[in-house]
Amino acid sequence: MAQSKAIGILGAGITGLATAYVLSSKYKVTIVARDLPGDLGLDWASPWAGAVFHPQKTPNKLWQDMQIACFRFYWALAHNDPSSGVKVYPMTEYFDTIHDDSEIWYKTLMPDYRIIPAGELPARTTFGIKYTALAMNPSMLLPWLKAKLIVKGVKFVRAEVFSLDEVRVITKAKLVVNASGVGARVLAGDESVGPVRGQTMFVKTDFNELVMKEGTEYTYVIPRADSGGVIMGGIKSDRLDSEVDVELKSDILMRVNRITNGAFEGLDISTVTDIVGFRPGRKGGLRVEREGDVVHAYGVEGAGYIYSFGVAERVKKLIEESVLRAKL
Ligand SMILES: Cc1cc2nc3c(=O)[nH]c(=O)nc-3n(C[C@H](O)[C@H](O)[C@H](O)COP(=O)(O)OP(=O)(O)OC[C@H]3O[C@@H](n4cnc5c(N)ncnc54)[C@H](O)[C@@H]3O)c2cc1C
Ligand SMILES: *[C@@H]1O[C@H](CO)[C@@H](O)[C@H](O)[C@H]1NC(C)=O
Repeated sequence: MAQSKAIGILGAGITGLATAYVLSSKYKVTIVARDLPGDLGLDWASPWAGAVFHPQKTPNKLWQDMQIACFRFYWALAHNDPSSGVKVYPMTEYFDTIHDDSEIWYKTLMPDYRIIPAGELPARTTFGIKYTALAMNPSMLLPWLKAKLIVKGVKFVRAEVFSLDEVRVITKAKLVVNASGVGARVLAGDESVGPVRGQTMFVKTDFNELVMKEGTEYTYVIPRADSGGVIMGGIKSDRLDSEVDVELKSDILMRVNRITNGAFEGLDISTVTDIVGFRPGRKGGLRVEREGDVVHAYGVEGAGYIYSFGVAERVKKLIEESVLRAKL
């Protein structure tokens, strides 16, 4: 019995931490990870995120439900404990590929949702909406979660592993959740998994709202709680080096000025803090599935914070469904 109640989690990024948070009320959870909250290496994604909660367009009902569950969790957290680094902000979201909100499934989810009148749209946009959204400061949220988990009895073991069996040995759990993100390819099999480069800049400012543009370009300004500044981005690319692309910096600034009515006109980009990070991509998207004694929870790419607690709830459901089945 003791063993069946034990669960091992590989990964201490936002996916692994959220999963531990949800499972730890019922199970004895041990996390095994090479990188832990506080670490600033480039082999994991979570410290480098923006990180904004803006729902992802998807027709997949299950993925929508995960985002809804996640939003509810962070919304409550933002109101109950500001020391988590999760905060509420007004959002302006522009698009250049759609003309109405027929694909915006989240119009009923996000508070204060409204359509921006066409006459008020900036150049190069075809549609825009406003709503209330959230942003997280990863350098606050990750250590906050780790501290909560320790109180809930979760154990952390720092180790790099080369198989999930190693995780079983370390955690003495039969059931393992694979939340290894980009992961080491040696962990077997999934050839569709790989890093997707991102580059942003941290800018000191009192600008205090979320502004984004999606479609043929991906541009954003994300305020960062308690930091006195914002994160500006972004880009996705196949490059795998961690050098800062200097031309990209002025391109980002130009795009940001276009969607903020020139709020950062005159900013000297040599004074900003550059950030390069790698998102855990997967062709075909997020994988949350149970296969025997493994629960897969990876491939969130650029939306790990947006899915995290939804993925965690789903993992719990997958574990409990099969417990029920085993009892029959
Ligand atoms: C520039 C940038 C901007 C972003 N902006 C946003 C945003 O605004 N909103 C949003 O939701 N997301 C954003 N993201 C994406 C987000 O950062 C990721 O989706 C998320 O952090 C993924 O979390 P994860 O826990 O799945 O993986 P990771 O954070 O990569 O964690 C993986 C964990 O597994 C461990 N691990 C892996 N392999 C091994 C091994 N072999 N042995 C031991 N441990 C191992 C690692 O050490 C780590 O603990 C952004 C990312 C970047 C780079
Ligand atoms: C664990 O997840 C990684 C992605 O992080 C994937 O490449 C690998 O195939 C998974 N391992 C197993 C055994 O499913």
